[in-house]
Amino acid sequence: MTDPGWAGRKAVLTDRLEDKPPAVSAITLAHIMGPGDTNLYGTVHGGVVMKLIDDAAAAAAARHSGGPAVTVSVDQLNFLAPAQVGDLLKVTAVVAAVGRSSLDVLTTVFAERWNRPGEERQIVRAFLTFVAVDADGTPRTVPRLLVESSEDRAREAEARRQRSRR
Ligand SMILES: CC(C)(COP(=O)(O)OP(=O)(O)OC[C@H]1O[C@@H](n2cnc3c(N)ncnc32)[C@H](O)[C@@H]1OP(=O)(O)O)[C@@H](O)C(=O)NCCC(=O)NCCS
Repeated sequence: MTDPGWAGRKAVLTDRLEDKPPAVSAITLAHIMGPGDTNLYGTVHGGVVMKLIDDAAAAAAARHSGGPAVTVSVDQLNFLAPAQVGDLLKVTAVVAAVGRSSLDVLTTVFAERWNRPGEERQIVRAFLTFVAVDADGTPRTVPRLLVESSEDRAREAEARRQRSRR
């Protein structure tokens, strides 16, 4: 492969800092809960769900920031209902607000039976904060969030309220 040289590297850097709407980095991951995912009561272990939330939110933060982003805090993680073995969990993560190097990501988890679509229930809602870092682990500047729709604006306002309560 030929070296793109400075012009190529500059293009990548410029692209990394380009303002992005939340939809560009939003992701949904889906996972079926099995017998290895339970707690001692037989329902799905909270830690299993938290890992899925962290994975999804980290992916959204990395996609928005154009590189690594590490988890620094989890705010208001509410377990609204239990999940069972055989539930298909759909974890959605969307960047809600950004600072200089930090990103607040809203995650929601919906559950439905793996073989019976259409009966979804929300089981979790949480805000997580990530910090974009460079190769040395030092915080780096992230692109601004292009907040356009009323839904984007409401999500950003809620994230900012969470941040000010912290
Ligand atoms: C992320 C890390 C590099 C930040 O270092 P730091 O010295 O706190 O950095 P700064 O004080 O310059 O703050 C950087 C940003 O992080 C934010 N931040 C730091 N700690 C925070 C926290 N607990 N909650 C929310 N935001 C936080 C700051 O507000 C700042 O945001 P801004 O740049 O948007 O204004 C450092 O805390 C770290 O390495 N933490 C461990 C991360 C980790 O291992 N996570 C688990 C595995 S992914």
